[in-house]
Amino acid sequence: MMPQSDAPPAPPADPAGAILRPATTEAIEDAAAALRAGRLVVFPTETVYGLGADARSDIAVASIYAAKGRPDTNPCIVHVPDLAAAAPLAALPTAAAPLAAAFWPGPLTLVVRRRPDSPLSARVSAGGATVALRAPAHPVALALLRAAAVPVAAPSANRSGAVSPTTAAHVLADLADGPGPKPALILDGGPCRVGVESTVLDVSGPHPRLLRPGGVTREAIEATLGIAVAAREDAREDAPLASPGLLSSHYAPALPVRLHATAAHPGEALLGFGGTPGATLDLSPAGDLAEAARNLFAMLRTLDSPAYAGIAVAPIPHYGLGQALNDRLRRAAAPRSGRAAPSS
Ligand code: TXA
Ligand code: MG
Repeated sequence: MMPQSDAPPAPPADPAGAILRPATTEAIEDAAAALRAGRLVVFPTETVYGLGADARSDIAVASIYAAKGRPDTNPCIVHVPDLAAAAPLAALPTAAAPLAAAFWPGPLTLVVRRRPDSPLSARVSAGGATVALRAPAHPVALALLRAAAVPVAAPSANRSGAVSPTTAAHVLADLADGPGPKPALILDGGPCRVGVESTVLDVSGPHPRLLRPGGVTREAIEATLGIAVAAREDAREDAPLASPGLLSSHYAPALPVRLHATAAHPGEALLGFGGTPGATLDLSPAGDLAEAARNLFAMLRTLDSPAYAGIAVAPIPHYGLGQALNDRLRRAAAPRSGRAAPSS
């Protein structure tokens, strides 16, 4: 008998052996099975691509750190489909319900205290008493979390310290030829809609603290909570640095990055904003911060080329999503010596 002609073609394997597949229902089912089997899976979220593993398994979580070359002192975010799935993992403070109602699924990560009986591996918390939780607003991520039915630990799917991936091709470029364990599967869901990582908000103590500006603005969080939210000192875009050492290099291209540039120096590429004259690339010719966030990491990767001596970046406004953009750019431009960083 003839073989069935409607059988799907074999998925293309990249040369390094990781498997890149369009995020079809079948591929998502296979990815869920791989997660349950303790393997690594790369999946799209609305912010950046994540490198996921079963957050209950010490061995699976350890393989994330090995694959990224990430110091195991840096905790990672645990992804859940909704607040109900978060409840067994952590002691949720009263602020969690209004924040989740306003922003989940979406680019807000809540740092909360672990429950004593939490099934999560201690490694997702780097041995600490808190855990970071988020429900991503991406249909593929949500379908994967529901199919796997396990909490999924997932940092951004890049080598530690490098620019976060906003396409599946970026993930391949970063992780395919690294020394660590390879993902079983990379689900390709196209380019990420938000383009910068989630906002990390610590609600484990008496006062909420913004640990990392991201896809949800501080203004929106303050409007929901009805109180002011303090930012970690080194996360303030407008504060003079108490010490340059406070800013660890991160989200960094190989080339040096120079900020607040109005023109390129000889040999530099110029990353513009809002129609900067002479820009090599413009984050948003129309001056739209959401468009700029979507383009930031991909454009930094494009300009990070031996054709240039450095990347000069035009000034970006400080309000709204501009806080996240300026935070990532400051880290990209930070001195490269002590590359171990609190954020990856
Ligand atoms: O948008 C995102 O957040 C993406 C997608 C994949 O969800 N994930 C991401 O993860 O950016 P990662 O690991 O690259 O960044 C997580 C940040 C780090 O700065 C980490 O230090 C912080 O969250 N973090 C994680 N757990 C924490 C905890 N328990 N307490 C304080 N900070 C924590
Ligand atoms: Mg990261």
